[in-house]
Amino acid sequence: MHHFTYRDGVLHAEDVALPRLAEAVGTPFYVYATATLERHYRVFRQAFEGLPHELCFAMKANGNLAVVRTLANLGAGADVVSAGEMEMALMAGVPAGRIVFSGVGKTAEEMARALKAGILQINVESEPELETLAGVAAELGLTAPVALRVNPDVAADTHHKIATGKAEDKFGIDLDRAPAVFARAAALPSLEVTGVALHIGSQITDMAPFAAAFGRIAGLVEGLKGQGIALKHIDIGGGLGIPYIEGTTPPGPAEYAAVVRQTLGHLGATIVLEPGRLIAGNAGLLVSRVVRVKEGTSRRFLILDAGMNDLLRPAMYEAHHHIHPVQAVPGEAPLRPIDVVGPVCESGDTFARGRLLPELKEGDLVALGSAGAYGAVMASTYNGRPLVPEVLVNGGRFHIVRRRPDLKEMLALESLPDWL
Ligand code: LLP
Repeated sequence: MHHFTYRDGVLHAEDVALPRLAEAVGTPFYVYATATLERHYRVFRQAFEGLPHELCFAMKANGNLAVVRTLANLGAGADVVSAGEMEMALMAGVPAGRIVFSGVGKTAEEMARALKAGILQINVESEPELETLAGVAAELGLTAPVALRVNPDVAADTHHKIATGKAEDKFGIDLDRAPAVFARAAALPSLEVTGVALHIGSQITDMAPFAAAFGRIAGLVEGLKGQGIALKHIDIGGGLGIPYIEGTTPPGPAEYAAVVRQTLGHLGATIVLEPGRLIAGNAGLLVSRVVRVKEGTSRRFLILDAGMNDLLRPAMYEAHHHIHPVQAVPGEAPLRPIDVVGPVCESGDTFARGRLLPELKEGDLVALGSAGAYGAVMASTYNGRPLVPEVLVNGGRFHIVRRRPDLKEMLALESLPDWL
């Protein structure tokens, strides 16, 4: 459920009409609804009521300072994958004790920063990483709280670029190696083994791979107990999918939590949750203006002022994003197929092919749906295009959290060598 609805024929974010925002910030821009963020957070937490858990929002999905602050105010922690994200989480008000640090390529410097900040846990993904972390912690005279990310070798039915839980993926320690690596970690005096972690992929809409992966982890946890290694945390990552296509209802937090209870609930550990997309995905829109309509010989094109550099998902994963005309069109208006494209000089800069839309014209506003996760965070300045603003709405209020930089700011980091 989201809070983008038509009122008097105009699409609103909560109580704010999108044309009003377009006037205030120009297009394209991202807009996030506080009410949706809060609702998704609450629904997720309620599903886990009674089971000890910690919700660490995956900031890679949306690192906007105000979005993260909104969630932190409700008690969320953060899952971060770089020192940059960690600093952003701290700035947004997430307590260090609620931050987990994931990722296959943490540098020694990042590890040191995380240890000094006093975060909840570092999720280690390989044996060499474990040795590096032990060295960094020893040098600082600190004890590193460590979870080992295990690769359960489970195939998740999702786009191959966002599946992470098969043995051939770069993530995690092989399940059969895990007991030996846990033993090694437990023997290193600068480490405190706090848990096990896994994450099998993203936009998963079938519970079976979760059940299979969690079952394997439960077996590992029980085996470790027998080895004298008791784990405080089982970090199950993120990955629960969302409806991108209006009217579809993939399994939600309740079904997901039921699988967690069934497979891991008896182990007495705190479950660490790292949802990203589920919290933020349907809390955001990318609003764009039609630059022109081009009638090609074989196809028709709706050319927007937003491009693949602003929302990469369709180009990168053939992802589907709903396209809403901001001015509602009467129900009986005829729909015609049209390719919705951006201005970037690549054919891949296509948001939708043959999408059935009502007649739209130059200057009209459209909103691309489900853009609150992996939208603004994946943007680039390709084709000399500035990063687009991000606006947070709360009831009838809005705030421009990130404004559009001007060209001077974009060039501020560049300088010419003295021979030119
Ligand atoms: N935890 C870990 C260790 C992860 O790698 C991820 C996502 C998450 C949590 C959050 O997963 P979520 O709940 O959002 O599915 N850019 C892609 C998605 C990449 C996901 C990477 N890892 C996309 O736009 O679909």
